[in-house]
Amino acid sequence: MVSSSSQAADPGRAADVRSALREAMRRLRAAAVPSHTLAAELLLMHTLGRDRAWLYAHPEQPLQAAELAAYFDLVERRIAGVPTQYLTGRQEFWGLELEVTPDVLIPRPETEHVVEVALERLGPPTWEEEAAGLPRGHGLRIADVGTGSGCLAIALACELPGAQVFATDISAAALAVARRNAGRHGVAGRIHLVQGNLLDALAGPPLRPLDLIVSNPPYVGRREADHLPLEVRAHEPPQALFGGESGQELYAPLIAQAARLLRSGGILVMELGYNALLHVRPLLETGQDWQQIRLTRDLAGIPRVLSAQRV
Ligand SMILES: C[S@@+](CC[C@H](N)C(=O)[O-])C[C@H]1O[C@@H](n2cnc3c(N)ncnc32)[C@H](O)[C@@H]1O
Repeated sequence: MVSSSSQAADPGRAADVRSALREAMRRLRAAAVPSHTLAAELLLMHTLGRDRAWLYAHPEQPLQAAELAAYFDLVERRIAGVPTQYLTGRQEFWGLELEVTPDVLIPRPETEHVVEVALERLGPPTWEEEAAGLPRGHGLRIADVGTGSGCLAIALACELPGAQVFATDISAAALAVARRNAGRHGVAGRIHLVQGNLLDALAGPPLRPLDLIVSNPPYVGRREADHLPLEVRAHEPPQALFGGESGQELYAPLIAQAARLLRSGGILVMELGYNALLHVRPLLETGQDWQQIRLTRDLAGIPRVLSAQRV
């Protein structure tokens, strides 16, 4: 068993799970990597293809030199700023394991509020649906604008097995990831991936109106780029981060398109940037298109989700 950090640092020397983890935690902590314990565990789980329960149950399991080399290579890349999720290729969202690559934003926990609000505003299954044994969301037509990894579209498709979901993104590379994630969760047949600007591709005349539109649009201002953590700025895709100079440039066209494409009574649910509320709420309050405008705060108390019903 390796007793000192220098031994575990040398991939050629014998080491076990416990000592490798300790050494990785030491290096990550020294480099001020946030959540260093979690990162050390996730990277070792990924390297060995094992889950956390296995790591805890086998602290004395010897590691091969190649495993150690691969593990400490990941640790060094994490220290250099690459997000853990891009190193493991995985992130959980709404209880679903999703593939993530540098072509997509890493889904954030606060975005789960978009799913919560959407389901709450749609309401529970109707009596008719239950009596007829129809799947929840039977006949609903939903759009997810800026789908990225597909997290919102897939979570909604899983919760609403009777719904069809149109998932748009400007990035073909992101849509390829979303396609694999939809397949992985068995909803590819009900998620229609469309490349294009916002909802442009759905704006043609023959389309039946939509019942629900959700979006987590890019909402960081380019002028705020220097304030982003380096690992976000240097590694996450710029088109997923920046909503123009101010960060708020996509909300107005999104809301205008949503007003045209939603049926009367249809619901719009948008995630907000930390300073977007004062800009976005007036877009819904001005004019006659929207009613029942509601704000949802995240667990930190930050205004996070704005939702409204089409008049
Ligand atoms: C903040 S990310 C959200 C990704 C995912 N929905 C999530 O919540 O993790 C925004 C996404 O919008 C896409 N996007 C940026 N501008 C767009 C536009 N004009 N039309 C459609 N999608 C756009 C980006 O490629 C990115 O995938």
